[in-house]
Amino acid sequence: MTSHTAPINPFYAARRNRTVPAKHDEPGKPVYARLPLAPVTASPVPHLTSLYHFHRTGEYGDRAYPGNCGGRLIKDLLLYFQPGLVFDPMTGSGTCRDVCEELDIPCISWDIHQGIDACDPNGFGDAETFDFIWAHPPYWRQKLYADDPRDLSRTPTLEEFLRRYRQFLRNCARSLKPGGKLAVLMGDYSDRGAGFVPLVYHTKRLAFEAGLVQHCTDIIRFSHGASSSKKVYRTSFIPGLHDVCMIFERH
Ligand SMILES: C[S@@+](CC[C@H](N)C(=O)[O-])C[C@H]1O[C@@H](n2cnc3c(N)ncnc32)[C@H](O)[C@@H]1O
Repeated sequence: MTSHTAPINPFYAARRNRTVPAKHDEPGKPVYARLPLAPVTASPVPHLTSLYHFHRTGEYGDRAYPGNCGGRLIKDLLLYFQPGLVFDPMTGSGTCRDVCEELDIPCISWDIHQGIDACDPNGFGDAETFDFIWAHPPYWRQKLYADDPRDLSRTPTLEEFLRRYRQFLRNCARSLKPGGKLAVLMGDYSDRGAGFVPLVYHTKRLAFEAGLVQHCTDIIRFSHGASSSKKVYRTSFIPGLHDVCMIFERH
């Protein structure tokens, strides 16, 4: 008679009986990881690699603004690309604008809070064309922003969010100069109703659809200081500790 019990793999049996040392002895304290060595390049910003881990926020924007991102990554990207004119169509507390001011780079910045809809089907109106666009849109409804139905974070379904997000990326693509760059900071998250929402994937898909190409590696930005990292959850899941900055180019 054949047995239906799977044979015991001696490798796993040995591991099962082993005491695994705790990886993280002090919950709540940061874990220090050794990053891979970056090659020497001619980059004007040698510490700017695919792993971005600056933990101090700097004096840009307003840390208390929901969804505020530190300005250091923006600063490093501007030092790297050295653009003429910058645009931030979803500026929030003005982090990108503040960095541009420090670097003496002209910058136009808007937000739905000033009544300007970056997802308008007519594009950005008479706005100029830009060398560099910094875009940090809502991660759908993870955080809510303006009390305005045109606010991307207020779109009731994922389908509707993606429809308006597609229009936003088209507007950005159209207002870039040839060779201009669009940097989008976006994160995936688990939505209470829709489950896991792979917004990084959708960003790439929609940006390519808008005629843009990816210019360089994704930049994985460690989410130091995220409000969720101090929470305690009763459910089991794999916490996401980063968001992704994607750099697209208009040919
Ligand atoms: C993630 S926050 C940006 C935060 C900003 N990077 C900062 O450091 O403060 C996203 C912003 O997009 C704005 N927004 C949402 N929908 C918009 C729309 N349709 N047009 C323009 N801005 C919009 C929100 O008001 C919010 O300020």
